Amino acid sequence: MPNTVLVGAQWGDEGKGKVIDVLTAQADIVVRYQGGSNAGHTVIAEGKKRVLRLIPSGILHEGKTCVIGNGVVMNPLDLIEEIEAMRASGVEPKGRLFISTRTQMVMLYHRALDKAEEAARPAGKKIGTTGRGIGPAYAAKVSRTGLRCGDMLSDRFLDLVREQVEEANAKLRMLKQERRDEGSDIEVPGCVIRDYQLDADEIVGIYAVVKEKLAPYIIDTVPLLHRAKAEGKSILMEGAQGTMLDIDFGTYPFVTSSNPTSGGACIGTGLSPRDIDCVVGVVKAYTTRVGEGPFPTELYNAVDLQDADGKTMAERGNEFGAVTKRPRRTGWYDAVVARYAQQVNGIDYWALTKLDVMDVFPKIKICVAYELDGRRIDYMPSSADELARVKPVYEEMDGWMCETSNITRFEDLPPKARAYVDRLIELSGGKLGILSIGPARESTLRIGL
Ligand code: IMP
Repeated sequence: MPNTVLVGAQWGDEGKGKVIDVLTAQADIVVRYQGGSNAGHTVIAEGKKRVLRLIPSGILHEGKTCVIGNGVVMNPLDLIEEIEAMRASGVEPKGRLFISTRTQMVMLYHRALDKAEEAARPAGKKIGTTGRGIGPAYAAKVSRTGLRCGDMLSDRFLDLVREQVEEANAKLRMLKQERRDEGSDIEVPGCVIRDYQLDADEIVGIYAVVKEKLAPYIIDTVPLLHRAKAEGKSILMEGAQGTMLDIDFGTYPFVTSSNPTSGGACIGTGLSPRDIDCVVGVVKAYTTRVGEGPFPTELYNAVDLQDADGKTMAERGNEFGAVTKRPRRTGWYDAVVARYAQQVNGIDYWALTKLDVMDVFPKIKICVAYELDGRRIDYMPSSADELARVKPVYEEMDGWMCETSNITRFEDLPPKARAYVDRLIELSGGKLGILSIGPARESTLRIGL
C-alpha cells in the first residue's frame, strides 16, 4: 500500500477506527499524528468490541508497528490503562508500540484546567470540550512550557512536574473566582482535587510510577519512520477528530486544539509532504456533531431538537460518544462540508461509512449548498457566526427501504442506494474507495482502494 493519510471529513466520529483497521491490514506501520484521548476509535473484530483512545488500532494486527507521533498530546495514565487492557486481552504492545520523545504529555493538571476553564465560560461561549485536558496541553506546547515524553527520561522530570502543579494551582485559584456554576467543584478521575487545588505530593507520586512504566516505549520516532520508508515499508498516518474540528479550518472557536487535516500528518510525524502518496477521507452517509458549535443540517440533539428522522439516525447509528458517552447531534449529509474537506485535505478516496443507517428512510435529503443572508453560496464560510446563520439548500432522493448490511458486493447494492452513494461522491469530489455497511470489520466493501 502507498503511504496513506486517513482523515475525518466531518466533525469526527465518522467511523475512522474501522476504516483504519481495514487499511492497517496492508500497512507495515501505523502512526497516530494528532489529538489525544479525546478521540475514541471503536473497532469490532471477531465479535470483540474495543475502544482505543491513543494506541493506533494497528496494535490488534499481529506484526504491525504502531507509533504515537509528536503531534499527539498523550495522557500517560490513559495510555497505561490501554496497554494493560491490551495485555489482558492477549496483545503485548512492548516491542511494537513506540512513543515519540517529542510527544507532549497531557497531565492531570491539564484535565483540571480544562474543566475549570469550561466552567468559567459563560453560556454561549462554552465549547463542550471532552474535559480530557486537550486544550490546556496544546496551549502548554505552543507557550513552550509543555512536558514532552523525552522529559520523562530525565532525572529532573519529577521536579518539573512539582513546579507545574504549583503553577497550575495558581491558575486554578484564579479560575475558581471566575466559575459560573457557583459552589460546584471540579473532578478529575485518578487524583484528589479539593477546593480547586491539586496535591503536589500525590501528583508527583503518580508520575514516578508512570515514568517507570512508560520509559521503555519512548524513542525518537523520526529515524524509525524514515528508516522504514527507506526500506520500502508502507506507513499509514491516522488522524483523530475531523476536518470541521481543525483548529485552523474548522468552526473556530468550536474546534479541538490540533490539526486533524492531512497537513497535520507531516507536522505530527516528521514525515514530509513528499512522503504522502494518498489521502483517504472518511465520511458518514449522514452528519453528526458532539459538543457546541454550528451544524447547518442539524435535525436532532436529544434536548430541544427532536426531529423524527434525526432521532432515527441517532438510534440506528448508535450515536453516543465512544469516550464521553454524550449523545451526538445528527442531521442530513452536508456536501458543502464534504467538498471543503476534499479541498483542504486533498482527498483521493472516500471511505463512506454507515450507509446501512439510511436503509429505513423513504426520502433522503442531501445539503448541496447554503443560503447565507438570502444569497446562495457553495463554499464553507470561515466564521462560525456566519455558518450558524446559513440555511441548507436540499436536494431530495428516494430511499431504498431495504437492508444493505448483508450485501457482500458493491454491485449488489439496491439501485436507489447506489444512486445515493454515487450522488454523494459526485457532489463531494474524489473517488469512492470503501463502503461500510455495518459495524463489524467484515461489513466493508472495498471498491477503488
Ligand atoms: P476537546 O478536543 O476536548 O478540546 O473538545 C473540543 C471540541 O471537539 C468539542 O466540541 C468536542 O466535542 C469535540 N471533539 C473532541 N474530540 C472529538 C471526537 O473524537 N469526536 C467528536 N468530537 C470531538
